[in-house]
Formats: sequence, structure tokens, C-alpha cells
Amino acid sequence: MKNSPLLTVLQDGRFHSGEKLATHLGVTRAAIWKHIQQLQLAGLPIESQQGKGYCLRGGIEFLDEFLIRAELSLVSQAKLTQLKLLDSIGSTNDYLLEQIRQNPLLPIAALAEQQTQGRGRRGRSWVSPYGNNIYFSLAWHFDKDPAELLGLSLVCGVIILNTLKRYGLKDAFYLKWPNDVLWQGRKLAGILVEVIAQSNESCQVVLGMGINTQLASSAPIDQPWVSLQEIANTKIERNRLAGILLDETLSTLQDFEEKGLKPFVKAWQEHDYCKNRPVALKQPQQTIQGIGQGISDRGELLLLDEFGVVRKFLNGEVQP
Ligand code: BTN
Repeated sequence: MKNSPLLTVLQDGRFHSGEKLATHLGVTRAAIWKHIQQLQLAGLPIESQQGKGYCLRGGIEFLDEFLIRAELSLVSQAKLTQLKLLDSIGSTNDYLLEQIRQNPLLPIAALAEQQTQGRGRRGRSWVSPYGNNIYFSLAWHFDKDPAELLGLSLVCGVIILNTLKRYGLKDAFYLKWPNDVLWQGRKLAGILVEVIAQSNESCQVVLGMGINTQLASSAPIDQPWVSLQEIANTKIERNRLAGILLDETLSTLQDFEEKGLKPFVKAWQEHDYCKNRPVALKQPQQTIQGIGQGISDRGELLLLDEFGVVRKFLNGEVQP
């Protein structure tokens, strides 16, 4: 779609008359209309107004390797083996899981304009319209037993918080165990960690992160959600945000590899959405009620039960 000359003109978010577009692109007005319909079907918010023409609401900042790399430290530049910018892909996580099989030289990062089969946790889908939001995955090799990676998804939450702070957003963001990023109780970002165990001493991991930067209010999401544009009330520089996220991920994974979860526990606890709140932890066979008490050094959720005992949990879905 990136190659669509019509989209290249409309990316500025201004109105362009059908007549001028047709002359500029050397096609008929009917052909323009047909192409507009295709773009609308793909989910792009293109408005048409009599006398004014067509406008892509909000415009698009296409992913740009130069702008993304500009945010990387020299260490991150040297560490990263490949940065793949994809137009439309099923899922950036699936793409990297496939890449790992062909090219085991890691880390490789992937960002996409659109995911047609974006995946969330627990088999859910992740709404991924074209030209908006961040759909980011990173494949990384750990010389560790997969059992030592329990805290990795919590660390990813801290990476996103640090990214938002470095971007300049001063709002209060929270983490809901294990790794949902929330703003005022509404979901802003999600994390999907997938591990390929190779042996007891090494494994490869694909980390997937989705951050909502701009989403139509009609987006089919079955829980309260928010986008950065709504929070900041201004257009988000998608490439700068993606570059910071990539840089933070590369440097933090290096730290995690050397020191494990422990150095991140304090930062995580400071943003714990469930701290001292009554929560229900949904597990396949049961739902456990308790009051949130933060996390253990291993990344387990701590819940105070009705008998005043703090219990530790490694899996389940928290519903405050
Ligand atoms: C969740 O909260 O359920 C996790 C959402 C993870 C979404 C990201 S977007 C980039 C990567 N590719 C995917 O298919 N999923 C992750």
C-alpha cells in the first residue's frame, strides 16, 4: 500500500480535489474513486466532502528507517543485526518466528504499517489498522535456561514505560500484571512474549509490543482502551517513538541478560495498577480473589487472601 501514489499524496492529511488527484496521477476520476474505496476498505479513515475532495484524517507518518535509527545509541546500532520495516504483514511476531528459522543471527527487529492477523495474548487478536500505532517485534538469543525468563514479560512493561517517559509523556502510566500498560484504567499497550527453547542453556525469544498511537473510536476492541494521541492531545511522532522503543528494548534486554529481573522489580512496583486493590485472578479452573501486593523477585503476582496470607501466582489473568 505504501507504493500507492494516491496514498503518497493523501498522507499529508489535507483535502485534495478528485479532479486534481486524477490529473496529477494521470488517471480518471472514476479510477480515483475506486482506489479511495479500496483504501477505505483497508481501514484508512478517508473522508470525502463535496467541493473539497478527499482527505486522510490525521495523515500518516510512514515508518522511516533513517528516523528510527536516529534514536539508537551507538551500542544499540552495533548490536542490532537487521531492522525490517514491513508494509502489510500477518503478524510481526509470526514474521520473526519464521525469520529465526532461516537466519539465526540475532537480534532482528521488525515494525509493520499494518498487521492483518495481529495476535494478542491468550489467542486474542490485536487490532492493527494501516499506518497507525506501533506494531513492533524483536527476536533475541539468550544463553539462559527458558525457566530463567519468567520475568521477561514484566521487564517489557518497564521498557514501554521508559519509552513513553523518554518520548516526553509525563502522564501516569500503570502496569497490570503481568504486562498490560494502562492509562486511567484503559489499555494503551500490550505485550506478547514467545519463547523457543533450544536446550537447557539457550533459547530464542520473540517479544511483540503493540502501542496504540492513534485509533478510530469505532475500533472493534472489547475492553476499555486509549491511544497516545488522545492522552497527549497532539499528533504522535511514530518514528521517534518506534526508535526510542527499539533502543530501550535493546539496552534493557542486555541488562536483563546480565542481571535478571531483580533490578527491574522496584520500577515495576512503582507503577503497579493492582497495588492494594481488590483483584480477581482468573485461572482456567478457578478465580482467586485477593488484594494486590505487588510482585515477587521472580515476577510472581502477590495476592493477600481472606485469611491474611500472601499467596504467589505465576499464571492467570488479572481482572481488577
Ligand atoms: C496483548 O495485550 O494481548 C498482547 C498484544 C501484543 C500485540 C503485539 S503488536 C506486535 C506483535 N505482533 C503481534 O501479532 N502481536 C504483537
